[in-house]
Amino acid sequence: MSRPRPERVIIFDTTLRDGEQSPGATLNVEEKLAIAHQLALLGVDVIEAGFAAASPGDFEAVRSIAEQVGSADGPVICSLARAVKADIQAAAAALQPAAHPRIHVFISASDIHLQYQLRKSRVEVLAIVAEMVAYAKDLVEDVEFSPMDATRSDPDYLYQVIEQAIQAGATTINIPDTVGYRTPKEMEQLIQNIQANVPSINQVVLSVHTQNDLGLATANALAAIEHGVRQIECTINGIGERAGNTALEEIVMALEVRKPYFNPFLGRSVDSSESLTRIKTQEIYKTSRLVSHLTAMQVQPNKAIVGANAFAHESGIHQDGVLKHRETYEIMDAAAIGLSENQIVLGKHSGRSAFRTRLEELGFSLSEADLNKAFHRFKEIADKKKEVSDWDLEAIVQDELHVPIESGFQLEHVQVTCGDCTCPTATVTIVKPNGKIFTDAAVGTGPVDAVYRAINRLVEIPNQLVEFSVQSVTEGFDALGTVTVRLRSDNCLFTGQASDTDIVVASAHAYMTALNRIHRHLENRAKHPQPDVAGILF
Ligand code: KIV
Repeated sequence: MSRPRPERVIIFDTTLRDGEQSPGATLNVEEKLAIAHQLALLGVDVIEAGFAAASPGDFEAVRSIAEQVGSADGPVICSLARAVKADIQAAAAALQPAAHPRIHVFISASDIHLQYQLRKSRVEVLAIVAEMVAYAKDLVEDVEFSPMDATRSDPDYLYQVIEQAIQAGATTINIPDTVGYRTPKEMEQLIQNIQANVPSINQVVLSVHTQNDLGLATANALAAIEHGVRQIECTINGIGERAGNTALEEIVMALEVRKPYFNPFLGRSVDSSESLTRIKTQEIYKTSRLVSHLTAMQVQPNKAIVGANAFAHESGIHQDGVLKHRETYEIMDAAAIGLSENQIVLGKHSGRSAFRTRLEELGFSLSEADLNKAFHRFKEIADKKKEVSDWDLEAIVQDELHVPIESGFQLEHVQVTCGDCTCPTATVTIVKPNGKIFTDAAVGTGPVDAVYRAINRLVEIPNQLVEFSVQSVTEGFDALGTVTVRLRSDNCLFTGQASDTDIVVASAHAYMTALNRIHRHLENRAKHPQPDVAGILF
């Protein structure tokens, strides 16, 4: 049988699984669904929706995405599973509503993992691979197998493990550079050696999952494509465990901008203009903003493709060149990733229909109820701020997408007095989960400190503030400020983000969001003790 070798690169998005493993990036089911819908619009081939066996919340997220996004003309929906029956069963059950389900089974292949983590021999692991891949294959047709820490495994043993998985029915073999250790040249050699030494390799799609510990993730993935790899595992904005993963936008735009270079590796003529992926690149920027907002993980300004400075030119010589002929200093057009230069500005006299039309032009389709809430918020902001730009609209809509946690604490009012000759004092009113309303006050070293102390007196959830940042959404004194907070509690990180023209109010809302996440986490933990997955995912 000859290998199913698509003449394009399959984009396997793992933002909702590996991406969500970024410290503090935990998403609730509604947020995962919002991202999954956007990933489908973006045109990814596979959505790794989560790790169904990890928790009831993960199971529910995979199930809901399978049901609502996994339609016949939609993407493959995938769940990760350890090579154990219970995980594989949970994955199959959660994926049941998907038209195209995939189970992604993994087990370590390196001696260091076998000896210290799994405490199993090579022979034992080979037997597990055969049994568990076959077990998954009985439940779904599409089975992916990953030998974890492949790039630090003994190559001869790795070939045996891969062959075993193929014999047991795997349809995709993914090679994870779990600790981000390889260089591009070494990646090329490994892929070539796998092709030469695994007898049945032609029967499967070859994939790579490259972590970014040395900043080489994208380079490693591109090197692998040159040698026959046809699936890339990646995440939006490159988020993920530790230093993250290959960024989807980098892979896709590298293949797009350097098409003549990559075409021949995919069996095309150099000048073929057909895209090398199915991604609708105009959706990239919006997807990046959505993921950044919902995970509260800000994109660094100099991040390739989606960073705020990616298309900005500071030096006079560069500005001069771009004004004369864009391509003097730009290798791609900002419009290609959905960044529009046409920044229409709305104001307090703009009506609902102009508001709705602009949102539609920006690609947001809101339900009537969400549109009403967003319009109300827009009017509040337009009263304080003369011009409401696309960036402000985006912040307003993203705030509306933050589904309130009904059973949590709601902030009713916050009031602060501060200045250079008074002690900063905050009064807050909060509705507790039981519906009762409480007011309390506190003093602090500054207005935000005072607000957080007053909230803590009422909410009483132990936490430690590990990060607080304010970012202005646009330029100007009247700009909206987006506040991001990261709290540590119960040995985990929780994030919150909110925007307002008043950064003390935004700070209060961001803090409440993070506290509600802790509240929900503690409630869930009490209801459903977690299986032992800690330390198993990388
Ligand atoms: O990094 C890794 O090895 C993984 C695998 C489960 C694919 O995330």
